[in-house]
Amino acid sequence: MRPSRRLGLPIAAAVVIAGLAPGQARAADHGGAAHPAAPRLVPAPVSVEATGDPFTLTSATRVVVRSGAGARAASYLARLLRRSTGYALPIVQDAGAGGGIVLDATAPQGLGPEGYRLEVSGKGVLLAADTGEGLFRGVQTLRQLLPAKAESPSRRPGPWRITGARVTDRPRFAYRGAMLDVARHFFTVRQVKRYIDLAAAYKVNMFHLHLSDDQGWRIAIGKWPRLTEVGGRTAVGGDRGGFYTRNDYREIVKYAQDRYVTVIPEIDTPGHTNAALASYARLNCDGRARRPYTGTDVGFSSLCVGKDVTYRFLDDVIGELARLTPGPYIDIGGDEAKSTRRAGYRAFVARVQKIVHRHGKRMMGWEEIADAKPSPDSVAEHWNPVTGRQDGTELARSAARRGVKLVMAPADHAYLDMKYTARTRLGTDWAGLVDVRRAYAWDPARLVAGVGEDDVLGVEAPLWTETARTSRDLEYLAYPRLPGIAEIGWSPARGRSWDDYRVRLAAQGPRWSARSVNFYHSPQVPWPS
Ligand code: ACM
Repeated sequence: MRPSRRLGLPIAAAVVIAGLAPGQARAADHGGAAHPAAPRLVPAPVSVEATGDPFTLTSATRVVVRSGAGARAASYLARLLRRSTGYALPIVQDAGAGGGIVLDATAPQGLGPEGYRLEVSGKGVLLAADTGEGLFRGVQTLRQLLPAKAESPSRRPGPWRITGARVTDRPRFAYRGAMLDVARHFFTVRQVKRYIDLAAAYKVNMFHLHLSDDQGWRIAIGKWPRLTEVGGRTAVGGDRGGFYTRNDYREIVKYAQDRYVTVIPEIDTPGHTNAALASYARLNCDGRARRPYTGTDVGFSSLCVGKDVTYRFLDDVIGELARLTPGPYIDIGGDEAKSTRRAGYRAFVARVQKIVHRHGKRMMGWEEIADAKPSPDSVAEHWNPVTGRQDGTELARSAARRGVKLVMAPADHAYLDMKYTARTRLGTDWAGLVDVRRAYAWDPARLVAGVGEDDVLGVEAPLWTETARTSRDLEYLAYPRLPGIAEIGWSPARGRSWDDYRVRLAAQGPRWSARSVNFYHSPQVPWPS
C-alpha cells in the first residue's frame, strides 16, 4: 500500500470532525450539556468546531486586510456582502470600534498555499492563511457560515449572524477542476463567468475549457482566421455557434484569476477536429475541406499527422494560447483518436508535447496520451470507466508507472452530462446513470488498481454539452453533483460519508435559490422545505 499524504494537523479530541453527524446537537464529552450544531459546510473542512458564539455584521463592520495579499479575497467578500446586507463594509487596515472581519496573511500558518484558519466569535472574525489564495478559500467557508440570504444579489433584511466556529483547513489534492465543453454548444463570456463563480464557491481551483471539437472552434487564432469564420459558426443540432476573441479569453482568464482559479485551455487533437478540418483544406491528408458537422458521433475526424503543416498550425495555436494563459498547462485532448493509426498517434503526441514545452507549458491530455509515452511533467486525465466504451484503467496505470500524474474524472461518477435517472430531462447515459450519491461515493486513490494517492494530482468534473444549450441546462446538470466532486478533491478521505454529506449538501439548496441557480432537486437530498 502506498503511504497516503496525511495532513499532519493536530486535531484535538474536542474538535468536531466534519465527517460526524451534521446539524445535530451532540452530547458534550463531559457534563451532558449539548454542543452547538456543527455548521453544514461543503466541502467538509479538515476540522470544524462550533463554538456557539456568533458574530453579527452591522453597518459599522469593516473588512480588515493586513497586507496586499488579502486584497482579492477581501474585495470578493465585501462585494458579495454589500449587495445582500446593504452595509458599506469598507476595506481598511484597522478594525476600529465596530469590530471586523480580519483577513491576515502576514503570519505563517503552516497550512500550505490553500490552507487557512478561521475563527468566528462575538468579538469578530479572524481568517488567517499563508497566502491570498488561502484567504480566498477561507472566504468561501465564511460565506457558508452566513444565512443563505447573504447570497442574494439584492438587499435583504438582517440580522446577519455568522455562526461561531473554529475551522482549520487545507486541501487533500492540489487540483480540483471543472471542465466545460463550449464546443458542442457555445457559451458566452458572461455564462462562463457564472459557471466559474458558482464552482469557486466550492473551492474548485482549475477551469478546463474545452475550446474545440468536431462541432465548433471557439477561440480566435491570429494566423488562422477561418477557424472562427467557418469552424466557429456551428454547434450541435444546428444551434448557433460563436467564439471568443483574444480579449474575451483574457477576460475569462482574469475573472478566474480573481478567484484563484487557473484556466486550462484545451484544443482537442488529433481527433475531434472536424471544425478545423472544415476551416482549412490543407489540414486534411487529401487536401479537401470537410463539411461542417453538427451531429454527436465521435471518432471520425483526424488531423493529418504526417503533414508538416499540421505542426505549424499547432505551433501557432498553442503558441497563441500559451501567451494568453498564465497557468502551467495546455491541454491537447488526445482522446478517441479512432481515425488516427496508433503509430501515427504516438508520434503526433510526442511532437505536440515538444511544441507545448517550447512554449513554456506542460502538456495535459485525456488518458489516451499515456500510450504515447509522455514525459513525467505531463498530466493525464482518467475518464474511461472500467466498464464502458473501453477500459481506460490500463492507460491510467501506465501513466502512473511513468510518473505522469493523473486527474481523475471517471465518466461513471464524475461526468456531469450523465443523466441523474432514466427520467431526468438532460444528459446522456453511455457511462450509466449518475445520481447525486454515485457522483459522490468514490475515492480517487482507490478507484484504479495501481493508481494511488501519490499518483493523483486531483479530480475533475467534466460537463460535455451535447444536450446542454443554456445556463439553466448547465446548472441543472452541475448542481448538485459538482460540489460532491469538489469535496472529493478537497476533504480528507477519512470521515467522508454519504449520510453526512447529503445533509450538508441540503444546506446549499437555499444558497443556490438565493442566486437563482437552476439545480436539480434530487430526492436523495433532504432539502429544507
Ligand atoms: C471524453 O469523454 N471523450 C474524454
